[in-house]
Amino acid sequence: MRVIRSSKKMQAICLGLKRKGRKIAFVPTMGALHEGHLSLVRRARKLGDTVVVSVFVNPTQFAPGEDFARYPRPLSADKRLLATEKVDLLFLPTASDIYSTDHSTFVDVEEISSILEGAARPGHFRGVATVVAKLLNIVCPDVAVFGQKDGQQVAMIKSMVRHLNFPARIVVAPTVRERSGLAMSSRNRYFNQEQLSRASCIHRGMRAAEALAIAGEVDPAEIEAAARSEIEPTPGVRIDYIAILDPDDLRTLDRVEGKAGIFVAVWLDGVRLIDNIIVRPSRRGRK
Ligand code: PAF
Repeated sequence: MRVIRSSKKMQAICLGLKRKGRKIAFVPTMGALHEGHLSLVRRARKLGDTVVVSVFVNPTQFAPGEDFARYPRPLSADKRLLATEKVDLLFLPTASDIYSTDHSTFVDVEEISSILEGAARPGHFRGVATVVAKLLNIVCPDVAVFGQKDGQQVAMIKSMVRHLNFPARIVVAPTVRERSGLAMSSRNRYFNQEQLSRASCIHRGMRAAEALAIAGEVDPAEIEAAARSEIEPTPGVRIDYIAILDPDDLRTLDRVEGKAGIFVAVWLDGVRLIDNIIVRPSRRGRK
């Protein structure tokens, strides 16, 4: 695995690979890798001849007061995991390489970035869109793989790629979960076992909502209430939102009749956790 720290060098290498006809599959990450990330890398391996992973804790997607400073950065462990997965190129830029002192160009995917996480974390999606746009321009991938765990991010990136005509194909891989159902996340490292066990209420809530939708309930408010009643009683948990939306464009649904996304954000002992599932209730037995 070659480790590249300069964006200029990375871009030159990737352009060279493309001239030779290599198909580049790219997984952008902020490190603190877990099985969820590794599943994206394995998916990338199936999609391209050269697998590129970036590890960059992007400062612009953290609002003031968020956990940028304490975000886990276990770089040696990350490198070992990526080497085991036989990643070809690891891109490890510094913040000053990505953001020059005169950096003043940002990407704003307006509508989709203004709700849910966008409302709770002002500037977050502008930071994500900007860094992903830059990474796509540096790595020039044929395909880039993202996790469904960050469902709104995925919808936002797909819109950006379409709006700005990036040539990369965006592939979305399923969320990898602990046995308790808790979605794997780098932020789970902030928790002890007892907290992790309480965090699994999010998954139970989403499954309760899904069960109701599958049983024929079409009213999003009822479906949301099913999730809420499972999550809310958990000690130390404060729900930020539970939203039943079209998973592709995050539009509000009046009735849950086809595919629907159940998006959840909670605070657990001061740590923000997000998750989502996509439910596909059959048309039979609808209310
Ligand atoms: O999902 C993440 O880890 C980050 O938001 C991403 C896409 C790597 C951009 O910093």
